[in-house]
Amino acid sequence: MNPNHHSRRRFLQLTATGLAASPWLGPLAWAQSSLPRKAIGMPAPGRMNLPTSPPSAPSGDSLGVAVIGLGGYGINRVMPALARAHRCHVAAVVSGNPEKAGTVAAAYGLADDAIYSYDNFDAIAGDDRVEAVYVVLPSGLHADWTEKAFAAGKHVLCEKPMALTPAECERMIAAGKAANRELMIGYRCHFEPYNLRAMALMREGAVGKIQHIETHQTYRMGPTSPADNWRVVRSLAGGGPLEDYGIYGLQSALYLSGEMPTTITATTEQPAGDPRFAEIFATVRTHLEFPSGATADLLTSYDTAPGRNVADVTGSDGRLIMEPATGYSGQHMTLARNGNTETLDPGDPGVQFHRQCDHFADVIRDGVTQIAPGEMGLRDVRLIDAIYRSAASGQPVEA
Ligand SMILES: NC(=O)c1ccc[n+]([C@@H]2O[C@H](COP(=O)([O-])OP(=O)(O)OC[C@H]3O[C@@H](n4cnc5c(N)ncnc54)[C@H](OP(=O)(O)O)[C@@H]3O)[C@@H](O)[C@H]2O)c1
Repeated sequence: MNPNHHSRRRFLQLTATGLAASPWLGPLAWAQSSLPRKAIGMPAPGRMNLPTSPPSAPSGDSLGVAVIGLGGYGINRVMPALARAHRCHVAAVVSGNPEKAGTVAAAYGLADDAIYSYDNFDAIAGDDRVEAVYVVLPSGLHADWTEKAFAAGKHVLCEKPMALTPAECERMIAAGKAANRELMIGYRCHFEPYNLRAMALMREGAVGKIQHIETHQTYRMGPTSPADNWRVVRSLAGGGPLEDYGIYGLQSALYLSGEMPTTITATTEQPAGDPRFAEIFATVRTHLEFPSGATADLLTSYDTAPGRNVADVTGSDGRLIMEPATGYSGQHMTLARNGNTETLDPGDPGVQFHRQCDHFADVIRDGVTQIAPGEMGLRDVRLIDAIYRSAASGQPVEA
């Protein structure tokens, strides 16, 4: 048992209030970004994973979910997960691209009146087929559309990162409370067998006293610019790789250590003259110090090849290495202790997507305690804010 282990509720209570918000934006105001900070339709992703025949009719208490934003993750991961879930189903789509929406809706057997646009979204309030909304929009739009969904009386499952600033997260939580509706964040690794096993192993002290955690979430982004990719637009993506990919390493460091950092030291890189990094950072390096004395080094980058996805925990009595650590599939995990190295195979990572959806339904239908509530999303966005404050000031920041 980790002596610094808090109960889950206490962990979130402590950490959701522990960091002061402060702007880190520097010289680039969000208003200067290239793409507008508003919901607009986009072309269909290069590959669409659509069902060959519509999913069978949902069971009696299945939760009807509207998916907002038919991009790569929405079409290829979220919708198949809702179709595979036991207690959820796709009940509507919300999109700014009518042709794409029609194709996707037909594949899921949805009626024409279950297709909404960003302009007529408010009408979803009167649609009893829809009890919840899954927000799969660019990250800078999460707050506004979560608030709109709550105003329409729906529950919300919102993709990571929850939003781009702590203030936005606080607004989202307040809106959910005012509407008396649930808010969950799409932290799929909390439903993924490898990460669940790793969390359990760390709680059991499988590597002894945790000394150091190292995470890498890196890849090299192909040529692009803010004119055609929201992921490099500050108003839609924040600082870039940390919110998008590095958030997995940050989360891993917290759920593997079972602690919140006391001190954060970070640096960012933003190479001049590269259109990919005109508005966002290329690389963020973060050093965390925990109350137990353990440390963590987190590397995330859009400009590193070959890319890596690693969580590596060194303890007094052993070492746990996950690589890839947080992917959609293909996880690999070894535990070295007592002179042996064991490869662990706790189950199919592919279940994470639909189990996350079923947990959301369990929360709404049965009042089950949320595993990834809005408060967890806020906690992480506050840490991200602190990381950028440290990098901007060149000083450690007390968390
Ligand atoms: N949990 C995970 O593993 C995971 C993985 C990938 C992404 N995500 C999260 O999911 C969200 C969406 O990511 P994605 O990869 O699906 O993005 P994407 O492929 O670019 O799709 C985003 C979709 O959002 C809609 N949209 C509305 N306003 C937009 C605007 N101003 N600019 C661009 N798109 C706009 C468009 O849908 P319509 O054309 O239908 O309007 C677009 O197709 C992000 O928050 C991301 O962090 C999570």
